[in-house]
This record gives sequence, C-alpha cells and structure tokens, in this order.
Amino acid sequence: MINIAIDGPSGAGKSTAAKGAAKELGFIYVDTGAMYRAVGVAALQRNIAPDNAAAVAAMLPEIEISLRFEEGEQRVYLNGEDVSKTIRLPEASMAASNVSAVPAVRAFLFDLQKSLAAKNNCIMDGRDIGTVVLPDAQLKIFLTASAEERANRRYKELIERGTPVEYDTLLAEIKQRDYNDSHRAIAPLKPAPDAVLLDSSDLDLAQVIEKITAMAKEIMPDEKA
Ligand code: DC
Repeated sequence: MINIAIDGPSGAGKSTAAKGAAKELGFIYVDTGAMYRAVGVAALQRNIAPDNAAAVAAMLPEIEISLRFEEGEQRVYLNGEDVSKTIRLPEASMAASNVSAVPAVRAFLFDLQKSLAAKNNCIMDGRDIGTVVLPDAQLKIFLTASAEERANRRYKELIERGTPVEYDTLLAEIKQRDYNDSHRAIAPLKPAPDAVLLDSSDLDLAQVIEKITAMAKEIMPDEKA
C-alpha cells in the first residue's frame, strides 16, 4: 500500500489539502485529528474532564470510532452516532487537545490508524504520522504556514460564516495550540527527519494540492513519466 503522511500545526490547511490530493490520486483520506476530536466528544458526553487522564483512559473500552466515506465525504461515527458536526465545535477542539496528551488515547487510536494504512492507499494527516504512526510512509510532508497567516485564514473563514471574532484572540489561540502540540511529552508535533517541508504561507490551496500530488506521483511507480 502507498501511505503518505502529512503533519503540521493547526490551520496550515492540512485537511483540505490532504482531502484534495487524495481525491486526485484516488486514495482514501484519513483525518486523525477527527479521531482525537471524537474521543474528546466521548469524554464530554460522559461529563469526564478531558484532562483527567485516568478517567479518559478508563472510558476507552466503551467507545468505538469509525471513519466512513459517504458520497466522497468523510463522516466520523462514535458508537454508531454521526458526530461529524459536533467534533468541529470549539469545545471539542479543546477537549481533543487535552485527550491527545493521554498515552492510552494515543495507543488506542494508533491501532485504528495503522490498520487503515495497512489496508488502503491513503493520505493520513495529523501531528505524529510521519514520526510515530507511519514511520515507513513512502512520502512524508510537513505542511506549515506562519501563525499570522493561519490566524488570518481562520479569521476570514469565521467572518464569512457570520461568526464575530477578534484576530488577536485567534492568533493567541493558534500560538497556544502550537505550543501545547509541540511541547507535550508524548508524540510532540515535529517534522520527521525525512519529511519534505512545505510552507503554504504564500500558496493557495490549488497550489498546495498540486505540489503534494506531484510529489506523490514521483513515488508511485506507475505514474512516473
Ligand atoms: O487537526 P485537528 O485540529 O483536528 O486536531 C485536533 C487535536 O488533536 C489537536 O489538538 C492535535 C491533536 N492531534 C494529535 O495529537 N495527533 C494527531 N495525529 C492528530 C491530532
């Protein structure tokens, strides 16, 4: 199977770019952040504090997470319930960030991620895909963009949706999440030594997808010119 790992900080455009490139290549797209978000939602549903590592670990045997692809859209199911919308709420982002620091949660999702990669040609995105989950991926990309550019994109997105926000608040949140994700003891966000660094600050989405697709074709024997 061909496995492509895309890691990078929140807001660099990983999921949109990975989804687009997967479509071009006919691969499945595996959004591991969505899995952490689903675990966060499971904790919230049970009134478990997402930073209570022991309680979160104890709940894992009760939960089942699956990703399904319906009409080209990825849907996330938690114990059979479609939580695709719920996992995008701000409280789910914070819960995901907390549960992602729990070693038992990482071990639980590792198995799910490994088995999807073993069975499918896939593009998997997250924070530790190239370093921990798929160290043998044929292509590893570390997609980043400046914190200011990421805050700017998020600001535009929310304003277009009619959600009032302050740019400075968004920038502070992004910097805080970067710090949390890259300083945690377990599986911190960092590029794999053999990852290609791709800075999307001055690229639009189509250009990022094109670059990823071109790199993927380089490593696909049948696609070489
Ligand atoms: O990419 P995202 O914003 O949907 O991720 C949600 C949270 O999960 C984020 O705080 C980082 C964490 N995460 C992780 O620790 N490891 C991954 N492979 C993917 C996400």
